[in-house]
Amino acid sequence: MARRNKPLSLDVFGRLKAGGRKIVVLTAYDVPSASIAADGGVDAILVGDSLGMVVLGYENTLPVTMAQMTHHCAAVMRAGPRVPVIADLPYGSFHVSVQETVRQAVQLVKDTGVNAVKLEGGRVRKDMIAALLDAEVPVMGHLGLTPQSVNRLGGFKVQGKGGEAAARLEEEAHFLADAGCFALVLECVPAALASRISARLPIPTIGIGAGAGCDGQVLVFHDLLGLYEGAQPRFVKRYADLGSVAREAVRRYGEEVRAGTFPGPEHAFGDPGDPEPAPETDQAPRGGYLAQMDEAQE
Ligand code: KIV
Repeated sequence: MARRNKPLSLDVFGRLKAGGRKIVVLTAYDVPSASIAADGGVDAILVGDSLGMVVLGYENTLPVTMAQMTHHCAAVMRAGPRVPVIADLPYGSFHVSVQETVRQAVQLVKDTGVNAVKLEGGRVRKDMIAALLDAEVPVMGHLGLTPQSVNRLGGFKVQGKGGEAAARLEEEAHFLADAGCFALVLECVPAALASRISARLPIPTIGIGAGAGCDGQVLVFHDLLGLYEGAQPRFVKRYADLGSVAREAVRRYGEEVRAGTFPGPEHAFGDPGDPEPAPETDQAPRGGYLAQMDEAQE
């Protein structure tokens, strides 16, 4: 589990942009993914509402609730990742009213300890962003393909194509920077546009499907590791195929249980009175489920 001696401050975003160093962000949804992300050296973790698709099996992110986000953010924080953790505000939580937005976001921070929230949209979220900042909740913006707008956009499509759309998107990016967002996710926008925005914006851009000119990149944990079976957009790079590794491990487990070769004597508990006591159980590898098991109970 990652408990590195690294400051937990959102300042890392500004510092890395100022120093010309790329910012590495990865999503995480629970203790193992947060620990792996932090141990792998990311600069920040995003508990994205992609949770709905890659963990909870929904078709899109719209059904994700604040209760689900809270549950998963709390798990990520229990990993003690020692990097800033940003939580997505789920669809519906910041659309009803300013008061409702602040109430929900503040409760999320209180219940989980996340350091900031991310919300989708530009100028239309002006009042919500201002109120969140007034309530001491730092805000990350998100423009381009905003998956919570899937019904309005008519699908998951590249945004900001063509002069007019590009100018509008760039104007929205400047609006969010002026509004006080500490960073901005640019999702699925043409690389040249993202590059231009990144060069002109005072806050860092974090790209996904937005080319190499952004100040940083974010990927979804399950996409990066080959754990998601759904369609893969072209911006995803799979750095491992853990899905295949996991399936093979489960297949071998089943094979060994059926053949009677698992559990072996080293996985069993003995009693001094037994005719054939099991070997010393404390030689078995430790860790995993019940790792803290009291020796007296063995
Ligand atoms: O929900 C999410 O994981 C996201 C990232 C893809 C930026 O919003």
